[in-house]
Amino acid sequence: MSGRLEGKVALVTGVGSGIGQGIALRFAAEGAFVLGCDIDEDRAKRTAEQGVEVLAPIDLTDPSDVRRFVQAADERYGRADILVNAAAIEPHMAPVDEMDFEEQWRPTIAGEVDLVFLACREAWPLLKAAGNASVINFASVNSFRASRQMAMVAHCAGKGAVLSMTRQLAVEGGPYGIRANTIAPGMVQTSATAAAGALRGPKAEALIARTLVGRLGVPDDIAWCAVYLASDEARWVTGANFSIDGGVTAA
Ligand SMILES: NC(=O)c1ccc[n+]([C@@H]2O[C@H](COP(=O)([O-])OP(=O)(O)OC[C@H]3O[C@@H](n4cnc5c(N)ncnc54)[C@H](O)[C@@H]3O)[C@@H](O)[C@H]2O)c1
Repeated sequence: MSGRLEGKVALVTGVGSGIGQGIALRFAAEGAFVLGCDIDEDRAKRTAEQGVEVLAPIDLTDPSDVRRFVQAADERYGRADILVNAAAIEPHMAPVDEMDFEEQWRPTIAGEVDLVFLACREAWPLLKAAGNASVINFASVNSFRASRQMAMVAHCAGKGAVLSMTRQLAVEGGPYGIRANTIAPGMVQTSATAAAGALRGPKAEALIARTLVGRLGVPDDIAWCAVYLASDEARWVTGANFSIDGGVTAA
């Protein structure tokens, strides 16, 4: 089946890499008009070369940049049916008593939570006007469980916040036909997880052992769930979380 998003306008953040890039390419293949953004121009260029329109650099923690991104969609298409907030900072990892408030805690919360709030706030009038819209935000396995392997107090706080914020967005969006859901991925192979050293060695082996299907995820494992949530197939689905994690949270 193809054309599941035929004619819909999708705003996708963080398309320069990983999950955001996978979603942008999959949405385009399913017939959506996609406008992406990223803070990193080189990464954005690589995605644009694969046929997706990308605005860069856009720093989504800066309200004026967020406005510029949403305005670009409005000017280009005059509407927005889908907002996917895939962008996020590579979170700072440190034990609680060693985590610096200004240099590590605040940037992690801004780069995981503020940018989701800012994009939703800015796009809300366009999503309301669409009357049948879908917001997809990214929680994590770490919205539900702590990690013995890595010190991630700010990351757990940030991803817990995205999960609960999205339920409230679903409540506020309901009367306007805006659905809001989270996807909570397990360990997916992306530049962020490679940088965290999670894809090789004993850390990776421990993570693979926790899955029920014996492998880490790839961006397309997540993108297929996003296609479903963005499409009219999911028109009765809101305020929900989808754990796409190879079974990690099940056992
Ligand atoms: N990869 C995983 O294993 C995993 C697991 C659970 C949750 N997630 C979540 O899924 C989402 C995507 O993760 P990913 O692994 O693909 O990340 P990634 O680092 O591969 O890609 C994120 C993209 O966002 C961009 N970005 C970062 N800060 C930005 C900003 N302020 N403004 C604009 N763009 C910005 C980066 O340049 C990058 O291209 C994130 O919310 C992440 O927390 C990922």
